[in-house]
This record gives sequence, C-alpha cells and structure tokens, in this order.
Amino acid sequence: MSILVTGGTGYIGSHTVVELQNAGFEAIIIDNLSNSNPEVLNRIEAITGKRPKFYEADIRDKEALKKIFAENPDIESCIHFAGLKAVGESVSKPLEYYNNNIYGTLCLVEAMRDAGVKNIVFSSSATIYGDPAFIPITEKCPKGVCTNPYGWTKSMLEQILSDVTVADKEWNVILLRYFNPIGAHKSGTMGENPSGIPNNLMPYITQVAVGKRDHLNVFGNDYDTHDGTGVRDYIHVVDLAIGHVKALNKIKENCGLKIYNLGTGHGYSVLDIVKAFEEASGVKIPYEITPRRPGDIATCYADASLAKKELGWEAQYGIKEMCEDSWRWQKNNPEGY
Ligand code: NAD
Ligand code: UD1
Repeated sequence: MSILVTGGTGYIGSHTVVELQNAGFEAIIIDNLSNSNPEVLNRIEAITGKRPKFYEADIRDKEALKKIFAENPDIESCIHFAGLKAVGESVSKPLEYYNNNIYGTLCLVEAMRDAGVKNIVFSSSATIYGDPAFIPITEKCPKGVCTNPYGWTKSMLEQILSDVTVADKEWNVILLRYFNPIGAHKSGTMGENPSGIPNNLMPYITQVAVGKRDHLNVFGNDYDTHDGTGVRDYIHVVDLAIGHVKALNKIKENCGLKIYNLGTGHGYSVLDIVKAFEEASGVKIPYEITPRRPGDIATCYADASLAKKELGWEAQYGIKEMCEDSWRWQKNNPEGY
C-alpha cells in the first residue's frame, strides 16, 4: 500500500517516511523543496535501505498532482505535511501563507477526490487552541483565537477538512494537533534544518551550543509558571512520526473525522530545557532574559490520553533523549544537510 507524503523531505515528513518504511508502507513524496534539501532522500535510504519515490513538485500544481495519482494507482492515503510554518513570516506575508497552505490543500484534496483517494492525515498544531481555555489541553478544549496567519491556516484547514467529511461519508480525515516537536533521528543523520535564524527554541539552543549564535534570548521570565518562563509540551519527532503510522491504521477502520493531540502530557519551561540540554550535551548555554515575544502564551501542554486510547499511541521518549538526539544531529551536521 502506498502513502502519498506531501512535504516528505521536511523535518517531520522525513522522520515519518522512515517510520512508514519501517512499518512496511511504500512512501511516495511530493515536495517543492522550498524548505528542505533533497539530501534527505539519501539519508532516508541509508537508514531504511530503501529510497522513497520522490516528485519535486508543488501541491498547487494540479497537473502534477493528477500525474502522480495516475502513475501510482495504489495510493490509499495521504499524509499532508506540506505547508509554510514560520509564524513571524506569516504576519508579514499573509497572502503567501494563505495561498500556499489553504489553496495548496484545496488543490490536493480536489486531486485526491478526483483520484478516489479519500483518506488524509493532516498536520495541525496546538496553536489552534489559541490561549487555551484549560490545561492540560484535551481535544474538547475549544479552538481559540490565533495570533498569526500561520495559526489561522491550520484552524481554517481543520474546518475545511471537517466539512468535507460531512458532505461525503467516504472521507476519513484525521487531524493531528502537534505540540512542540524537537529531537532528531537516533542516527544523527536527519533532523531539523531551519534556514536563517531559528524561530523555535530547540534549534536556537543547538546553534548556540555549536557556536553559531553566542547566546539564547529567553523571551520573558514573568509568566505565571514555576520559573516565570514559558511552558510547552516538547515531543520527540520520532514519537510524532510513529503517531502518523498509528493514524493510518485508524483510517483503515473507516473512522470518519477524528482529532488527536500528539504530545507527551508534560510541560517544561524554557529554563528546564536549557538545563536538560546542558546535561545531555555537556555544553553550557549562555542566555539573557529579554521581553516577552508577542503572541506567546504562558503554558501549553497536552492531555494525550485520547490518542493512547484510540490509536494505541503514546510518546516513548523523554526530554533527555530529545536533547541528546537534537544535539547529535546538530553536532554532526553543523551546517544542516
Ligand atoms: P518543514 O518546513 O520542515 O516541512 C514542510 C515541507 O513542505 C518542506 O519540505 C517544504 O519544502 C514543503 N512544502 C511547503 N510548501 C509546499 C508546497 N506548496 N508544495 C510542496 N511542498 C511544499 O516543516 P515541518 O516542521 O516538518 O512541519 C510539517 C507540517 O507540520 C507543517 O504543515 C507544519 O505547519 C506542521 N506543524 C509543524 C510544527 C513544528 O513545530 N515543526 C508544529 C505543528 C505543526
Ligand atoms: C511556536 C509557534 C506555534 C507553532 C510552533 C511550532 C509562536 C507564537 N508560536 O510555538 O504557532 O505551531 O512554534 O512551530 O511563534 N523561546 C525563547 N527563545 C527563543 C525561542 C523560543 O525563549 O529563541 C521560548 C518561547 O517564548 C516559548 C518556548 O520557548 O515559551 C517555545 O517556543 P517555540 O519553540 O517558538 O514554540 P511555541 O512558541 O510553542
């Protein structure tokens, strides 16, 4: 059985392709390489012994999508990672974000429908909860007000994909709401490869550790948390990848619309992460406290018990492994791929 993986050369997509191949699925990647490097394909092959089929194409290219489905009639489901994800950039380029993420997904879902492929697993985000109504966040927590266009694309796409399941009962849609993915493949050959200055905490820390940046800016220490810095639910990217394999198993049950949080259920502050990283790497991370980052919330962590109950999925890796694996990747690949 083949699985079309959009954005499959990206950070989460590449780790998911490895886990798909390990589980016996055929992965077919479509990616326009706007935020990834084709070297990833060599790394996947080195890890799994198998090179996934790769199409360099944009999901907004309807002809390309049609051709991919025609050439691969055994595609049963799609895991849809392709999208732009830089929060700050989305504020300055809203049209580009809506075009890429919303229009791109519409093109994809239309092409899927035309090809009779009506199973999709979608990369959503805890960002759709806005400032969450309660903690830990269950899937019943109401969707909130997003603080940026990136977040709105996720929130809107959840709605669009849900509406599709109402109109046509043949569709199975699983919305996976990721918390904060970090870590890298154990081999140290695949990991997160941000271009420019990292926006997210862990890649920033690893770049400080490897000497590319001189210190970490900690965005605020006056939040209502145990040490005043922001608390998040960090999840190992390999655990996240395995969550997608489990979601595909669920789709086989003709599940209709399902929504799952993928997190560990544990919250760690920025300073907890700095300490855990220092312990895992043996490298000191100098930091400075700076003002809060606009749009940030104090605390965000999941109740992931529904995924455990219904998907049989639970995160296996702790913060130590997440830090060790992020560090191994960065140390071995200081310039990324
Ligand atoms: P990534 O940027 O590493 O991967 C996304 C991939 O999609 C890239 O390889 C990029 O080249 C490709 N892409 C983008 N637009 C495309 C288009 N129009 N056509 C074809 N390919 C296109 O990001 P990631 O961290 O792996 O995230 C994957 C998905 O998960 C994204 O949808 C992201 O919004 C979502 N997500 C990520 C996080 C996170 O912290 N990384 C958290 C929540 C949700
Ligand atoms: C951010 C996005 C969210 C997106 C997620 C994954 C915002 C407001 N939210 O989440 O929409 O889904 O990334 O891509 O951008 N921090 C520092 N210094 C840094 C970087 C981060 O102190 O240099 C702090 C932040 O204030 C936060 C924590 O570290 O408390 C985690 O930040 P980050 O990794 O950017 O993730 P989120 O803000 O949770």
